[in-house]
Amino acid sequence: MKTRLLEYLACPACSSTLRLAEPATPPPSDQEIDRGSLTCAGCGATYPIVRSIPRFVASDMYAASFGFQWNKFPTLQLDREMNNDLSRRRFYATTGWPQRLEGELLLEAGCGSGRFTQLALETGAEVISFDLSSAVDAAWKNHKGATNLHLFQASLLAIPLRKGLFSKIFCLGVIQHCPDPKQAFLSLVPFLRPGGEIVIDVYQKTRWVPSLKYWVRPVTRRMSPEALYRVLNATIPLAFELKKRIHAVPGVGPKLAQLIPIGPLSHANIGLHYTEGELKQVKVLSAFDMLSPKYDAPQRIEDVQRWFEEAGLVEIETRFGYNGINAKGKRPPAN
Ligand SMILES: C[S@@+](CC[C@H](N)C(=O)[O-])C[C@H]1O[C@@H](n2cnc3c(N)ncnc32)[C@H](O)[C@@H]1O
Ligand SMILES: [Zn+2]
Repeated sequence: MKTRLLEYLACPACSSTLRLAEPATPPPSDQEIDRGSLTCAGCGATYPIVRSIPRFVASDMYAASFGFQWNKFPTLQLDREMNNDLSRRRFYATTGWPQRLEGELLLEAGCGSGRFTQLALETGAEVISFDLSSAVDAAWKNHKGATNLHLFQASLLAIPLRKGLFSKIFCLGVIQHCPDPKQAFLSLVPFLRPGGEIVIDVYQKTRWVPSLKYWVRPVTRRMSPEALYRVLNATIPLAFELKKRIHAVPGVGPKLAQLIPIGPLSHANIGLHYTEGELKQVKVLSAFDMLSPKYDAPQRIEDVQRWFEEAGLVEIETRFGYNGINAKGKRPPAN
C-alpha cells in the first residue's frame, strides 16, 4: 500500500478518516508499505495491511473459489503474458473510453487477477482496484511496481472509500456473482463524482433452456475449490485428447466431436494462438469459472436498464456484448 491511498480511504463501518497505525513513521507517499495496520479515527476499528494490501474483510467469504482460481491461474487471461488482445478488446468494446485518461481517478470493482486493471493502468489514470477474495494477491503480483495503482481487499457492499471521488467506475464479470446483483450495482453508484460514468457487464438470462452448466452447478458449487479443481484438471485434458482423436475421424468426426462440451479445439479463428498446453489450462480455468462460483445469477436487459434508472443515472446505454449485457450511465453533472 502507498500512503497516498489514505487520501481516498474511509472506514467501511462508519465512513470516518483512516490513519496509518503501523508503521509509526509513514514512508514517502509513493513507497509501498508491506505490512502494518490502519485505524479509524471515528470508531477505532483496525484493518491490517498484509502482503502490501489493506484488508477490510477477514476472509474471502462466499468468493473463496475466485481466490483459489486467480491464484492458481494468475496470468492465463493477462494480455501482456498471453501475447494477445482478448481483454483489451472487451475492455474498450464495453467501456468505449479513450485510451488516454491521465488526470482521472478510476475505480475497478472485482479485479480478479487484474486482466482489466492492466488496461486501466495503461491509460495513465490513477487506478483503485479491489476484490472480495485473495485474488487481490494475484493482481498485486501481476502489477507490482505500477506507480498509479492502489489495491485493497474489500466487498462491494462495504467499500472503504470516500464517496463522490471517481470520474470512472468499471465492474466487469462480477455483478452476477454477488448474492444480490442489483444491490451490488447500486452500492457502486455513490462513489461516482458528478458527471462521472459507471460501466458494468453482467451475464444475460436466456428465455430458453438454461445452458449445461446450470444443470451441473447445484453439485459443483458446493464442492471445495481444491476438490473441484482436482476433478477438472484430471478430466478436461483427457477429454481434449479424446475430442482431438474423434475430430480427426474422416466424415462424421468433426460433428461427433462437438458432443464433448469443452469448447473448440483451437481459438485461432478469433486470433488466440495458444500452445496445446495453454489451451488445456484455458479450458480447465473456464470450466472452473463456470462451475465453482457460489452465485451465478444472469439478468434480463430490461431489469439492468431499470437499475440504472433507479440509481438516478443519465445517458444510460444497455446492449448485448462480450459477456452478456453491457451497461453504462452517468451521474448527472453538478449544477
Ligand atoms: C469472474 S471474476 C472476474 C474478475 C475480473 N473482473 C475479470 O474479469 O477477470 C469475479 C470476481 O468478482 C469478485 N467478487 C465477487 N463478489 C464480490 C464482492 N461482493 N465485492 C468485490 N468483489 C467481488 C470475485 O472475488 C472475483 O474475483
Ligand atoms: Zn470507523
